[in-house]
Amino acid sequence: MHQDVKEILYSKEELGQRIAELGAEISKDYAGESVVLVGVLKGAIVFFTDLARAIDDNVDVSFDFISCSSYGNSTVSTGVVRILKDLDRPVEGKHVLVVEDIVDTGTTLHYLLGNLKSRGAKSVRLVALLNKPERRKVPVDVDYIGFTVPDYFVVGFGLDYAEQYRQLPYIGILKESVYEEA
Ligand code: PRP
Repeated sequence: MHQDVKEILYSKEELGQRIAELGAEISKDYAGESVVLVGVLKGAIVFFTDLARAIDDNVDVSFDFISCSSYGNSTVSTGVVRILKDLDRPVEGKHVLVVEDIVDTGTTLHYLLGNLKSRGAKSVRLVALLNKPERRKVPVDVDYIGFTVPDYFVVGFGLDYAEQYRQLPYIGILKESVYEEA
């Protein structure tokens, strides 16, 4: 375990099991359809690649990516969302499934889901590996949730603190001393 991690919240095995279940559910709901998986860079990337491979080949899947900014290098949301890198292709008339690592205050997803709907997508749904409802400031409907988590500062499996820890194969709780020292 990384020295800055206090406790492992979800192990590699628990994450793999839950992602397989999410993939099965999504495969059932989109059977015979085409869907664009929209990964929100960068945190979602690890979850995205595992989830995509857990979706059956009876779903016609394509990938696109978007990058939004709301946090900067801080643990506190600024509430402002900007698109830093837009999708490569239009989503008009398409089923879109946004793939996120975490929904926290809801600021990013509230904005992003509205933005994608306004582009004329046939449907826009959201799958989030982690949901932190205690922190919500703006409402967001999360269609598929991996785990509902208390308000811990979590890192790993794509989730960062100041761009670190994304490569950890588990989700862990960061030691308070790491961000209190900063
Ligand atoms: C995280 C996460 C979501 C957003 C959720 O991204 O991936 O996009 O914050 O927080 P919110 O519900 O309070 O808006 P972050 O901005 O940290 O960028 P990253 O994905 O590059 O780590």
